[in-house]
Amino acid sequence: MCGIVGYIGEQQAYPILIKGLHRLEYRGYDSAGVSMINADGVLSVYKSKGKVSALEASVADKDISGTIGIAHTRWATHGEPNAINAHPHFSQSKNLSLVHNGIIENYKSLRIELEKNGMTFCSETDTEVLVQLVEYTQQQHGCDLYRATQLALKSVVGAYAIAILDKRNPDQLICARKGSPLIIGVGTNNGAGKGEFFLGSDATPIIEYTNKVIYLQDEEIAIMNRNGDLKITNLSNVKQTPQVHTLQMNLDELEKGGYAHFMLKEIYEQPNALRICTKGRLNIVDKDVLLSGIIDHKEKFVKARRIIICACGTSWHSALIGKYFIEEAAQIPVEVEYASEFRYRNPVIFPDDVVIAVSQSGETADTLAAIQLAKDKGAFLYGICNVIGSSIPRATDSGTYLHVGPEIGVASTKAFTGQVITLFMLGLAIAKEKKTLSEDMFHMLVDELQKIPDKMQWTLDHNKGIDNFAQMFTYARNFIYLGRGYNYPVALEGALKLKEISYIHAEGYPAAEMKHGPIALIDEEMPVVVIAPKRGMYDKIVSNIQEIKSRKGKIISVVTEGDTIVKGMSDYCFEIPDTRDCYVPLLAILPLQLLSYYVAIAKGRNVDQPRNLAKSVTVE
Ligand code: AGP
Ligand code: GLU
Repeated sequence: MCGIVGYIGEQQAYPILIKGLHRLEYRGYDSAGVSMINADGVLSVYKSKGKVSALEASVADKDISGTIGIAHTRWATHGEPNAINAHPHFSQSKNLSLVHNGIIENYKSLRIELEKNGMTFCSETDTEVLVQLVEYTQQQHGCDLYRATQLALKSVVGAYAIAILDKRNPDQLICARKGSPLIIGVGTNNGAGKGEFFLGSDATPIIEYTNKVIYLQDEEIAIMNRNGDLKITNLSNVKQTPQVHTLQMNLDELEKGGYAHFMLKEIYEQPNALRICTKGRLNIVDKDVLLSGIIDHKEKFVKARRIIICACGTSWHSALIGKYFIEEAAQIPVEVEYASEFRYRNPVIFPDDVVIAVSQSGETADTLAAIQLAKDKGAFLYGICNVIGSSIPRATDSGTYLHVGPEIGVASTKAFTGQVITLFMLGLAIAKEKKTLSEDMFHMLVDELQKIPDKMQWTLDHNKGIDNFAQMFTYARNFIYLGRGYNYPVALEGALKLKEISYIHAEGYPAAEMKHGPIALIDEEMPVVVIAPKRGMYDKIVSNIQEIKSRKGKIISVVTEGDTIVKGMSDYCFEIPDTRDCYVPLLAILPLQLLSYYVAIAKGRNVDQPRNLAKSVTVE
């Protein structure tokens, strides 16, 4: 959660910081703040409750000059979202200001200790403890700020990415991380004692200025100097050699491109995003699958006793679809685990297990911790992530990037379908090695998979007008989503999308489970979304729909193009092209994403920044 931006160099810091905060706002948006040191050595801190735009309005008449600064957009964990709890936080002497992403677990005991020693606190946050602790440590040891930060962080339990300004040293910016992400952008260094550096929780605030970045590692601390010098050590002051990476990111991908919201843009991007995701991986001519991530590790997959997939939220839903497919195609048992539960059990993990982490951001704290646990138990780790260079890809032995482009909308859409198609490719690649599919079946599955992006385009083109229809459901307080087989996870995902952005309660169920309880909820007010493609269990689902109709539920169905039976039973119907059973989720989810979007719009919700949520959950 939360976004950190920082700058030191020759340019004015404020415009860079504010633009960066806007780019990072999807990570948290309950308050925002900036801190700069101006040419007279004055350290300012401005903060306000609410969005970055509120912060901008509040500084209109303030001195925002300075060529060094830090900024923050918050997702509150400790202390309500208000201006006092917003970051940056001052130290007691007001010599230091600090921004933080993460949670300091032992903040209470540290605060009591510091208070005993005369430090006073203004906020309810865990963060303020950090800045006071650094100042107190510096006073006690009489050392420089860098050393004081190292020492202070040694007594901290929890997760942090921090950046600190010191008004006595306007030529240096200090940052450190453990558990929460932080990236240093290396700007121009003209060799004449002038350089510039950028800081970001991810690359989005940096990419416009430089594509050279350093991913700070856990328990590393860095000092960036205006003269272009950069020093990185660990907390024990052992020098680390930074690796500079070159990012490939297109600025257009970070803009709405004419759409009202990022979510809508990302829904419509899906056909093309999946074409890019499968490019060079699905070979149409030879009807083959090539996943470089498994080529060097074939044996691990072929000999795997079991695959365990750890994920959260939407990524957990795509993992469930992956399980069904890998078990069917590659005949390996697959378990899908909520990362947050898995990490705190004492799960049985064998050295010949493959553990896969599925995560759009690659930064989800629970997923990261789950794979670290699996690593300690000797499992082979594979990452399926979207954000290049993020923590999970760096912690795994191998993996596959989605390459669907940055996903900014908090509600995941294109990352979901990217994850699902990647898991299909993974299942096919393992099946090929294990020879668990006949050659004909393998070729047919590859052939059909590469047709999916075109079929997605068809689905989006043929399901216009959802905006008008969605209006009718703004009254609803509950929705039920039903699917069977591969479409049960789609029902879960459809329900999650609606909950997240419209705040309407929704549940996904396997359709046949209805009669074991939830059917009691059905009345003439209850919209029931049923995924009913003309495949596999069609007749069964027709019976399930009948059961709902008999109790006067409103049926919204997703059917195969040309279907008349379910269509005739439905109050509203979305059509998708025919495809193999296993691939239906990639098409069926599209109208459900649009349905949730338009219901939320009709209810006047902030679709890209729904209340209480943040895009990247980097705290527990
Ligand atoms: C998706 O719409 C959600 N906002 C959320 O459930 C998300 O999928 C979850 O937090 C996992 O994120 P990750 O894929 O970045 O790990
Ligand atoms: N724990 C800190 C707070 O509540 C930081 C939260 C964040 O990462 O935004 O202020």
